Amino acid sequence: MCGIVGYVGKRSACDILVSGLRRLEYRGYDSAGVALLTQGGGLEVVKQTGKVAALEARLSETVAAEARAGACAGIAHTRWATHGLPTEANAHPHLADGGRLALVHNGIIENYAALRRQLEARGCVFVSQTDTEVLAHLVATFDAGDLLAAVSQALKRVEGTYGVAVVSTRYPGQLVVARRGSPLVIGLGEGETIVASDVSAIVSHTRQVVYLQDGDVARVAAGGAQIYTLDQAVVDREVSCVEWEIGAAEKSGYEHFMLKEIFEQPAALQNAIRGRLDPVLGTALLSGLNLGPRELASIRRLVIVACGTSLHAGMVGKYLFEGLADMPTDPEQAAEFRYCNPILGADDLVVAISQSGETADTLAAVREGIQKGALVAGLCNVVGSTIAREAGRGVYLHAGPEIGVASTKAFTAQVTVLLMMALKLGRCRRLSREAGLTLCEEIAALPGKVEAVLAQNDAIAAVAAKYAGAENAFFIGRGILYPTALEGALKLKEISYIHAEGYQAAELKHGPIALLDERMPVIALLNDIPGKEKTLGNVQECRARRAPVLGLVTEDDEEAARMVCDTIRLPRTSAYTAPVVTAVALQLLSYHVARLRGCEIDQPRNLAKSVTVE
Ligand code: F6R
Repeated sequence: MCGIVGYVGKRSACDILVSGLRRLEYRGYDSAGVALLTQGGGLEVVKQTGKVAALEARLSETVAAEARAGACAGIAHTRWATHGLPTEANAHPHLADGGRLALVHNGIIENYAALRRQLEARGCVFVSQTDTEVLAHLVATFDAGDLLAAVSQALKRVEGTYGVAVVSTRYPGQLVVARRGSPLVIGLGEGETIVASDVSAIVSHTRQVVYLQDGDVARVAAGGAQIYTLDQAVVDREVSCVEWEIGAAEKSGYEHFMLKEIFEQPAALQNAIRGRLDPVLGTALLSGLNLGPRELASIRRLVIVACGTSLHAGMVGKYLFEGLADMPTDPEQAAEFRYCNPILGADDLVVAISQSGETADTLAAVREGIQKGALVAGLCNVVGSTIAREAGRGVYLHAGPEIGVASTKAFTAQVTVLLMMALKLGRCRRLSREAGLTLCEEIAALPGKVEAVLAQNDAIAAVAAKYAGAENAFFIGRGILYPTALEGALKLKEISYIHAEGYQAAELKHGPIALLDERMPVIALLNDIPGKEKTLGNVQECRARRAPVLGLVTEDDEEAARMVCDTIRLPRTSAYTAPVVTAVALQLLSYHVARLRGCEIDQPRNLAKSVTVE
């Protein structure tokens, strides 16, 4: 989604803002812009559709080198269009006060139409179709000598979500920033302060950061930041230290972040598992859940809320919790959940799964769960993210930053953490110590099994070449592999733009089979676990309609291999761990297909890394 960077200090704001925007490119965007407070007291604003590289070129053409080097404060933005086309006029920053004030904004102003009418009636002239421009004019309207007060007054009139940063030539050397529902982080450097919607734009400058909370507004200067409520009461926010290395946000020799993150999975899973398995009691230690055995035993139902890939992990979770802990489990798409007036009680545990911890619908589902008196836990990757904080209890994935827009290592870490949760819940119920110990061993073996899949990379690339020309594809799986089929289809469509659908293998003949012919490849998940024989029957039905079938088969399963046209070999696993190894192979398949088709793998069209709008 949209990205914000702001800087005030002694160095060239222009360089820092542009390099910050580059760090945010992974989030997905369609235009970019910068506003610089120049040494001469002016405001230089440059906007450009397309990539940050194009903005940089435009800056060099239109702003004199001395002005660029001399500007020590400014704000910048990458826009992912919501209101209005991705044009230069709609790109941020938006201006007001006769071009003296510039504002960038993430989120959506829901009452913008009414506000725009009021402002137009007062003589404001609008040059874009965005909701954001309303905010810029509104701030200017309230400006009576204190920028922070003006921003606070304006934000009190606004319905919706925002992360905003504002500069004005009337207030050199300061930015005002605020958040509600859209993240903003303040990085505290030596004589400089950097603001961003994501720490990845900050970590190369400083690791000392303050995460703003909803309702905060801050005056930011080179010496630091002062944070207030919208009613101007001073608030104290903790300074945190960002733990990850800058290298974690770089490609480190890989062609794409996605490939790097696929290959990071053994380490990511190791981190997710470390210190969490109890080899004596055969259970898992998940202290962040903050629930003792008695409380765990009294939970009657799990409701998993999530979107996209995280929802697919949650759907795997249903098989894990029901199979290992006899726990009725309902995975729900978070947006549907929040609007269906869900029936929840004190003995329900709502588990919100979100890599970013900022997905708007999942956050709203968390709030609904809390409101209805259920226990709520977050499974997030980003430490300190809104869902992690608001849920109040949960388990971090520890998968490391995920930059590629298509989620990979977060999915396998989510499934692994769900497996440990199911183990823990199971051990509070009917799961025996012996069964728990076996599962502990299987979980501990997962990083090695994933290594074995990665060792097939060349073979998978060769198979991908045979399927890269397809325009459609079906993925079929049964039982616990059905959500993995959905995830395989999602990965393929996201990054290769091949139309792909995932089905329960048995569902094919209830309609989709009508589409099968020699141009419709079927990717069949045929791991040697219960249900395989039945899926092999479905494979025969596909081949009888001349559909080419690519089978993901267990390494030594020649019977299954003979029944398909091509194979990807997977290490032998139990049913509970099969989704992890299978997902890794499907990620590599999608990656190679997309690469062969020349797609923009790390920034697929129209997609955003973290969906902070409804
Ligand atoms: C797909 C993908 C998305 C996200 C979804 C939820 O590759 O990344 O489907 O899984 O937008 O995001 P989080 O997990 O951040 O809530």
